[in-house]
Amino acid sequence: MEGKYMTFVMDPLLYPAVIKHGKQLDFHEFSDTAASKTFGYPAVCTGRFPGLSDKIHRLYQLLQGSTLNSLSHKMMENLQDVLQKDFLSVHAEGKECEWRQEDLYKFCERVMFEATFLTLYGRPPHTNIDAHLQRESWIEVLLNNFRKFDAMFPLLIAGIPIGLLGKTKSIREQIIRFFHPHRMAEWTSPSEFIQARLDLFEQYDTLKDLDKAAHHFAVLWASVGNTISAGFWCLYHLLSSPQAFSVVRDEIIGMFGDKEPESILSQDTLTQEQLEKLIYLESAINESLRLSSISMNIRVVQGDFCLHLNPHFSVCVRKGDIVALYPQSTHLDPDIYPNPQEYHFDRFVENGKLKTEFFKGNQKVRYYHMPFGSGATMCPGRFFAITELKKFLSITLLIYDMQLTAGQQHATMDKSRAGLGIMLPANQIFFRYRVKKNTIQRQRL
Ligand code: HEM
Repeated sequence: MEGKYMTFVMDPLLYPAVIKHGKQLDFHEFSDTAASKTFGYPAVCTGRFPGLSDKIHRLYQLLQGSTLNSLSHKMMENLQDVLQKDFLSVHAEGKECEWRQEDLYKFCERVMFEATFLTLYGRPPHTNIDAHLQRESWIEVLLNNFRKFDAMFPLLIAGIPIGLLGKTKSIREQIIRFFHPHRMAEWTSPSEFIQARLDLFEQYDTLKDLDKAAHHFAVLWASVGNTISAGFWCLYHLLSSPQAFSVVRDEIIGMFGDKEPESILSQDTLTQEQLEKLIYLESAINESLRLSSISMNIRVVQGDFCLHLNPHFSVCVRKGDIVALYPQSTHLDPDIYPNPQEYHFDRFVENGKLKTEFFKGNQKVRYYHMPFGSGATMCPGRFFAITELKKFLSITLLIYDMQLTAGQQHATMDKSRAGLGIMLPANQIFFRYRVKKNTIQRQRL
């Protein structure tokens, strides 16, 4: 973006005028250039790959609608597997009533990363594991590399050449090799979305195997890059607010009636319909996203024109200029959200329903909540992301007793990736947790 004129539109009442100019204000040009350099594949919107960009975008439908049900179902199974393997094993050793203390971000990272990976990509066979992976499991190695790459992500997106970023290039190569089509062919039960992308890439001789692998890596980043930190903020805020915690937990328990806790760990719990009824949980998630998302919606001007923002106000922009929306100014606007810096878990509930009408003065604000972007370029994974977060929070609130460790500072945001999505916490936050007693007893029966 260096050397470009940028026009920031700060008033949310003017957003619709920008969003409706999808053709003159293009998003794909910017994202294609930035993403291809960051993840290491050749830019898609060139003559070398005719139709590929459109086809990739069409496949995003497989993250929504009817396929969302199967993704959602698999996500629950994988969350249960990951939590059982990772934490309930401790209790099999007879340490059931002991509290465990852990870094809250690391907890969210480990659980969400593995469960999301397995849900989207399927499970690699053990025979695939290299000799040096015997000490650490393949998922720990992948997560470690991912974490190192992710730390450099803001610099890469800003256009810093990867060669100047220490070992980042070789780390990216390792991750990309992990997604080599020959390896992926052996993974069992990939999602329809990933399978369709595998099939699509096979139709393009101009894509090399490692280019295809780099595309799969990009989707891994998109699917967990923001979701892990979103999970952290949701859980952190709930644990910080006893009232929010108890209302949200009671709502989840209410959904299960007087079912036994072990049904939470069985396979067919929490249908999509049930999830939609958890409005306090959804409101708490929306509120955490409102506070922690600092994204920027960037559009590149396709030709000189006058952008009419309202009947009295136009801005003339030139080809190549950037027009940017900065939704954080909306998220923290005291006219729209009174006391905007405060966490109010029920801000998005009104008359027993999810609140969808917000006003600035007496004008209705259409784009009041934008963690997932806007218009045609909105995040295609948003429904899956909310489903994942609801499932993650429901299952953890139901099976664990949890408390923040006493005497800690409040969590603050690491603003180094402002503009790129959900902020990471700047400081470590510890919590303690143990499996609820009745869950363990029933599991052993
Ligand atoms: C809380 C979690 C998430 C947040 C906050 C988030 C946010 C975003 C944002 C802001 C964009 C750019 C949209 C724009 O500028 O208009 C985006 C794009 C994208 N997201 Fe998400 N996302 C999340 C989770 C997911 C998940 C779980 C997936 C699943 C695969 C996903 C897949 C994608 C993809 C593929 C794109 C690129 C779309 C394109 O090229 O047009 N996201 N996301």
